[in-house]
Amino acid sequence: MPRPRVFVSRVIPDAGLIPLREHCDVEVWPHNRAPSRDELIAACRDKDALVCLLTEKIDAAVLAAIPSVKIVANVAVGFDNLDVPAATAAGVVMSNTPGVLDETTADLAFALLMCAGRRLGEAERLMRSGTWTGWGIMQLMGQDINHATLGIVGFGRIGRALARRAAGFAMSVQYTDAVPAPADVAAGLNARFVDMDELLKTSDFVSLHVPLLPSTHHLIDAKAFAKMKKTAVLINTSRGPVVEEAALAAALRDGTIAAAGLDVYEHEPNISPELAALENVVLLPHIGSASVATRGKMAEIAARNVIAYFAGEAPPTALNPEVFERRAKG
Ligand code: GLV
Repeated sequence: MPRPRVFVSRVIPDAGLIPLREHCDVEVWPHNRAPSRDELIAACRDKDALVCLLTEKIDAAVLAAIPSVKIVANVAVGFDNLDVPAATAAGVVMSNTPGVLDETTADLAFALLMCAGRRLGEAERLMRSGTWTGWGIMQLMGQDINHATLGIVGFGRIGRALARRAAGFAMSVQYTDAVPAPADVAAGLNARFVDMDELLKTSDFVSLHVPLLPSTHHLIDAKAFAKMKKTAVLINTSRGPVVEEAALAAALRDGTIAAAGLDVYEHEPNISPELAALENVVLLPHIGSASVATRGKMAEIAARNVIAYFAGEAPPTALNPEVFERRAKG
């Protein structure tokens, strides 16, 4: 059987590229930017598989334009960039990278929580400005992390990993989710289930860990900010459109909430100029899973899905495994 031809839409860690090259003929997009839709389609015309990033939108129209592609492996756990039902209808397997980035992303969420709560962005900018005049008793007073109430919106793997970190700071943890966690899990994490309203009203820190779905789009809007404490800090490491960015900028500017820490934005890679002009927001460039080890594991999982598919084995983290099963049955 000829070697499968694979297009990889960016240079990814060797942990993914090396096994892919062992088993497949691999073409890697050489530029340090996402391919445009047309460039992606052109590159995939003669390919059997696509390894892509969350910056590539693979919808029904793209799938129809690349009919030779049988598997799309996303190097990300979030897959709002993929139209899985369209792929299922087209007989294309799609996969993501669950399970390997929870701890790394929770680390970053907690780092953002500390940075935004203790005003570390402002403090760092002050030091670099050369205008620090020395220790000041009224200088840069922020919010305590220890013993504060942390509200976790979305209590999946990453939300729970954040709760474990909070325990070390004696935080009181409450969470909301469509379905409450099993009682033993919640008890083990010392986490109390509350509804969204109560969480917004009573949390000192609100951290978002939901997938982007029609039901979570603009989940945090002007109405939500109005319910939050004036001293509250919002953390978002999930997906940008979960927060209405214009409403967030207004809430931070008007003092409706105290601060925010963001890793994701509504219209990446653009951020609203109002946000960028504010001191009380920490802005990171979507690096939640960006540790050397974790990005390597993500690349490797994507590669393993492609390799398994062409070896006639079930892709380990397929989002629509029924497509592979149908094909295997003949
Ligand atoms: C990153 O945002 C991911 O979904 O993996």
